[in-house]
Amino acid sequence: MLKPALLLCFAIWPCSQVVMSEPTLYERLGGEEGVAAIAHGVVEQGKRDPKTAKHFDKFNQSRTEKLIAQQLCSLTHGGCVYEGENMRVAHAGLNIREPAFYATVQHLRNVLDERGVGDSAKNQLLRILAPMKRQIVQTGAAPAPATNPKAD
Ligand code: HEM
Repeated sequence: MLKPALLLCFAIWPCSQVVMSEPTLYERLGGEEGVAAIAHGVVEQGKRDPKTAKHFDKFNQSRTEKLIAQQLCSLTHGGCVYEGENMRVAHAGLNIREPAFYATVQHLRNVLDERGVGDSAKNQLLRILAPMKRQIVQTGAAPAPATNPKAD
């Protein structure tokens, strides 16, 4: 049996409004243009912030931005297939520590704020990305510098 509120809804509003679906997180981030700009903004801030800049001294910027945008699209129901490496492999060897990770989260917040993304979409995205921390951040001692066994 139809609930009274639903009956009222059919009586007052056109049905199209009843069946209209919520925008996906991808749409709330601005779609294709939005995720590309977010990827670009985060990388640019990463290059400029002294807490993270050293990690961005040797990398292919356009490829990385393309893959970050593709990953964002895939994670937020934009229909993309992410073609990059998994997070552990992609960041292996960069020796990323917790402060650099949190600085990057702040860069993302800044870019989302600049683009006028609402709090609910922002928090939803951050919740999706948070579990990646343990694949990206290196704990324990830094790897020992490579030594040449033939030296002296
Ligand atoms: C949740 C957080 C992060 C996400 C979702 C993320 C995502 C990605 C993705 C999708 C790629 C491309 C993977 C590929 O090349 O196949 C990438 C590469 C890269 N990321 Fe991240 N990343 C995160 C955090 C960080 C942090 C904290 C740093 C440094 C402060 C960083 C620095 C880099 C660099 C330098 C590359 C290029 C690596 C290379 O090509 O050698 N990322 N990231």
